[in-house]
Amino acid sequence: MKTILTGLRSNSMLTIGNYLGALLPMVRLAEKHSKDNHFNLFVPDLHSIISDVDGGDLQANILRNIKFYLAAGLPLNENVHIYRQSHVPAHSELCWILNCTATMGELNRMTQYKEKGEGKASVNVGIFDYPVLMAGDILLYSATYIPVGEDQFQHIELARNLAERFNNRFGETFVVPATTREQVEFMGMSDGIRIRDLMNPEKKMSKSTAAENSKIMLDDAPAKAAKKIMSATTDSIGKIKFDMWNQPGISNLLQIEALVTDTPLQDVISTWTGETRYGELKKKVAASVSGMLEEFQARLAEISDAEVYELLEKGEKYANEVAAKKLLDAQRAVGLR
Ligand code: TYM
Repeated sequence: MKTILTGLRSNSMLTIGNYLGALLPMVRLAEKHSKDNHFNLFVPDLHSIISDVDGGDLQANILRNIKFYLAAGLPLNENVHIYRQSHVPAHSELCWILNCTATMGELNRMTQYKEKGEGKASVNVGIFDYPVLMAGDILLYSATYIPVGEDQFQHIELARNLAERFNNRFGETFVVPATTREQVEFMGMSDGIRIRDLMNPEKKMSKSTAAENSKIMLDDAPAKAAKKIMSATTDSIGKIKFDMWNQPGISNLLQIEALVTDTPLQDVISTWTGETRYGELKKKVAASVSGMLEEFQARLAEISDAEVYELLEKGEKYANEVAAKKLLDAQRAVGLR
């Protein structure tokens, strides 16, 4: 059995970028493959404390993120494991061991580090080291596929490099995750997913962008989300074409439509290419997104805390068993045991 794994930080409310880039692909893969593969979905709460937590209530956010997994339609069977990173101490321990193989140079090159540190007088070490902790999250469970948005691809590459380096230096210990090309193919895509900012479609949609109309949050009222789509920035070319470089706004809408309706992007592109009425496309995407939010929010309201804690108890027992074994392999390899 292979392991497919992903994590969503719980600092604040998530956007449909998080939902369409990582959460929904993971759920759809689990629907297809969880009979004969392990599916690990976790909340990287240690990653959350590298920056401020909205409302200061990390516990509430963690619980909410797990409910998101369920509300997105995650099938629950014995191969699906849900856990909190900080409840599996092996993550922090492996991170330290991997720190001693990672170099300052390669971490300095991480785009996310540069973005998160930009303009700050002082940056905490957690922000710098977060890709190494993430590599540990992946390698502890021998994960092959890690459905994430395109912004995390550089970190998957780092995890691959650290695994290969460790194996070369200390002997075969870790499964090397699939290349990003293979990851994309496994997700049934031709490229990584990057949902764009609705106002400035050259940039990715991000929860930290101040402008409300730039992003759709998972708790936005469906009608409000529809309005944001209707006012999304497009272009003055006047003809629909999937071209992220010259028509990023229109291309973003086509991408969103494909993901929300679970239709191959090529089919959505064929339907709309050459059309001149941008308003029609916007109306269709607005209806798809608001319909999706309505269903998602209704399901979310029905999930109880008790249900989540029950899943966590089971998931964390499994995660601790698997992770402790792999940690011991790594400790033995470097001579600590
Ligand atoms: P995080 O919490 O910032 O984001 C969670 C997931 O959402 C994706 N994402 C997007 N995808 C497409 N378009 C967007 N605009 C967009 N914005 C966010 C991210 O790519 C990500 O998949 N370090 C990770 C969390 C993590 C993790 C892991 C993930 C920790 N350990 C191990 C996978 C495996 C992070 O900060 O993601």
